[in-house]
Amino acid sequence: GKCVGLIPAAGSGSRMGAACPKQYLPLLGRPVLFHSVAAMARLPWIERVYVVLSPADQDFVQTDWRGLVDKIVPLYVGGESRAETVRNGLAAIGHDLTEMDWVLVHDAARPCLSSNDLNRLLSTLQDDPVGGLLAIPVADTIKRASTDGTVAVTVARDMLWQAQTPQMFRYGVLRRALASGADAGITDEASAVEKLGMAPRLVAAQDNNFKVTYAQDLLLAEQVLRSRGL
Ligand code: C5P
Repeated sequence: GKCVGLIPAAGSGSRMGAACPKQYLPLLGRPVLFHSVAAMARLPWIERVYVVLSPADQDFVQTDWRGLVDKIVPLYVGGESRAETVRNGLAAIGHDLTEMDWVLVHDAARPCLSSNDLNRLLSTLQDDPVGGLLAIPVADTIKRASTDGTVAVTVARDMLWQAQTPQMFRYGVLRRALASGADAGITDEASAVEKLGMAPRLVAAQDNNFKVTYAQDLLLAEQVLRSRGL
């Protein structure tokens, strides 16, 4: 089936404490969002990249999209939560897709996604009936806290992974997973798919693909992109 990208970019980025939403902070002279879109749009097997924006977004049209205009489509249907934003985006693009086509949902705030990881995600999943996601094995020891800020328990980390994006699912699976509207606790698409009783495949990311959450992450992102010649 065909493959399209869908980038939920309707968040306010409150943890960054910046005046503008974090996806529009500058990185190598262009917004973070530009790089996250470009990471997908430069691959020929991704036909189109839909960017789901807040209806109030003023920044997308101000951005220089040269080099990507043939492939990107803005959709001003963002919602209150990430899940709602993705659900609205899927509804808006459904006329163009069949049940078995692929949708790759990618965070607006992951500008360092490499072509290498994206190509491996596709080659690993292309015959899968459901889909999966990029992720990395947990490297640190993980503690569950008590409400008083002390350690309640140390969690065995050997089977724990940190979920990243893209999260690549069959269009029909993803639409059904998000249809309920019970968005509380759904922080990624995979968790919604899991609630259908399906098991998304974990594909180990090899390159840096962190989420820009705090201001200092921008400096690291700049170094990563420069080291790749971007
Ligand atoms: O806040 P967080 O980093 O988890 O957001 C992940 C992604 O979801 C970001 O790309 C953000 O723009 C998006 N989002 C959205 N609509 C919302 C909330 C978040 O598109 N209402």
